[in-house]
Amino acid sequence: MEILRSVVVLVHLVGFAVLFGAWVVEAVARRTRVTPLMSYALVISLVTGLALSAPWGLDHDLNYAKIGVKLVVLIVIGALLGIGSARQKRTGTLPPAIFWPIGILALLNAGLAVVWH
Ligand code: HEM
Repeated sequence: MEILRSVVVLVHLVGFAVLFGAWVVEAVARRTRVTPLMSYALVISLVTGLALSAPWGLDHDLNYAKIGVKLVVLIVIGALLGIGSARQKRTGTLPPAIFWPIGILALLNAGLAVVWH
């Protein structure tokens, strides 16, 4: 059970890495746009995060306040990705005010995960 949980944590981290990595690629190239990869990665983080929110294969208690905040942050990222890709399709551009919070909030969630116990 512990090994399976570790594998799910690993996939959860891959979701974060792909989301943040895909965002950094666009930011460094000075393209303020969202890509489908960001949305797929967010779904991976959500599904694995929900699986990890059940208390199995654990030797400590879960911090449900932290999990709740992470879920809210993830929903905001999802909304920004949804609004962003619709706006991008319609106008061909994405306002920086939608692009920047996506990466910042993804990093915030990873920060919450490791700092808040
Ligand atoms: C962009 C979104 C997210 C990011 C960047 C993220 C990041 C992380 C990271 C880095 C860890 C490992 C921390 C550690 O083991 O110390 C982790 C663990 C975890 N995450 Fe997330 N997460 C995200 C979304 C979510 C969501 C939406 C949920 C639940 C609804 C969730 C639930 C959990 C749980 C339960 C753990 C394991 C905690 C434990 O075993 O003590 N995560 N997350």
